[in-house]
Amino acid sequence: MLNFSFQNTTQIHFGEDQIKTIRQAIPASARVLVTYGGGSIKANGVYEQVAEALSEHTWFEFSGIEPNPSYDTLMKALDLIQQHNIDFLLAVGGGSVIDGTKFIAGAALYKGNDPWDFVAKGQAIEQALPIGCVLTLPATGSETNVGAVVTRDNAKLAFQSPLVRPLFAVLDPSVTLSLSDRQISNGVVDAFVHIMEQYLTYNVNGKVQDRFSEGLLLTLIEEGPKALAADTKHDLEVRGNIMWAATMALNGLIGAGVPQDWSTHMIGHEITGTYGVDHARTLSVVLPAVMKICRDSKREKLLQYAERIWNLTEGDDDVRINRAIELTEQFFETMQVPVRLSQLDIAETGIDALVDKLTQHGMIQLGEHGAITPEVSRNILTTAL
Ligand code: NZQ
Ligand code: ZN
Repeated sequence: MLNFSFQNTTQIHFGEDQIKTIRQAIPASARVLVTYGGGSIKANGVYEQVAEALSEHTWFEFSGIEPNPSYDTLMKALDLIQQHNIDFLLAVGGGSVIDGTKFIAGAALYKGNDPWDFVAKGQAIEQALPIGCVLTLPATGSETNVGAVVTRDNAKLAFQSPLVRPLFAVLDPSVTLSLSDRQISNGVVDAFVHIMEQYLTYNVNGKVQDRFSEGLLLTLIEEGPKALAADTKHDLEVRGNIMWAATMALNGLIGAGVPQDWSTHMIGHEITGTYGVDHARTLSVVLPAVMKICRDSKREKLLQYAERIWNLTEGDDDVRINRAIELTEQFFETMQVPVRLSQLDIAETGIDALVDKLTQHGMIQLGEHGAITPEVSRNILTTAL
């Protein structure tokens, strides 16, 4: 196992009716800005629960953070923050709202000219407003991690800072009952691929990390389809297991002390940046192609994945690997997400532009070995056609 330091300081309030805990979790004297998206929280009662929990606080609101949050939208929150002396941010929504709020938290106290510098130039964030969150869509892990992804002018870029990790996260599975099938699928698939990015690399004998990852993968394979099936989709235990798996998938634990890949995500971000495709639907297309193109460097882990996740013990190594990739695609299809670029209406003629954007964004040595050059990314995209 590799050396590591691990800390995750987000306090989690899990379960039904936990939104009320934010009354104690946010200092009574705080001036709070509640941030949210396009209004789903008004339709499903979450807004009312938050308002009730904050009834003794001074609070304001900023809405309209869109999926794949944009720099232009987020910058609009800064005036409000200044005008009302905001000193605490409460993000209520999915990964986009939480990521967008992380950007706002850093931008509000940024001393330089343009806060985009901490995204595009990787400048360290030196100060940030404290954040709490109420998660409404299990998927990204943003509720307890240090990362965020923001878009400006079709460039979808990630940044990280320990200062933007939420202080607390409310995980109430019942608020996910209003999700559309599409968002449920997206969430399960995103979490699945987060685990794969940290698991499907090369063996460093990280037995705990591997077994945790395998437990999470098996949970998503078991529970994901139930959240789409008519007779089980309202089952709160199903929703709870998915929610907790998605948080655990990207809270730093399974990735500590092991190599990580993230090429599927980086290639996927260019597809979203260019075509506006939902994040998870880029991942379900790219991951199988990464598994195919990187099968030699990932061989040992692919075989472990084949055996422990899909019970494949018969046939030679290549047969088992091929079958494991097929079963991964079948799982994605069961979750109703695409597995080929053609299903996203992206043709071979679109690949050059995607590879150019990867190069422009410095994504020229991707993967756990840094061996995925733009040419290899081209092969991956061509394989995904
Ligand atoms: O905007 P509202 O009206 O709230 O509607 C949202 C949005 O339209 C809706 N929704 C959320 N909760 C709902 C609900 N609808 C009904 N009931 C609910 N309970 O769902 C739609 C999608 O929301 P979004 O936040 O965009 O989805 P998700 O959580 O999948 O977040 C995706 C974003 O996270 C980034 C992605 O790149 C993308 O921008 N990621 C962030 C990561 C991180 N911070 O660590 C890692 C991930 O790999 C990912 O890149
Ligand atoms: Zn993701």
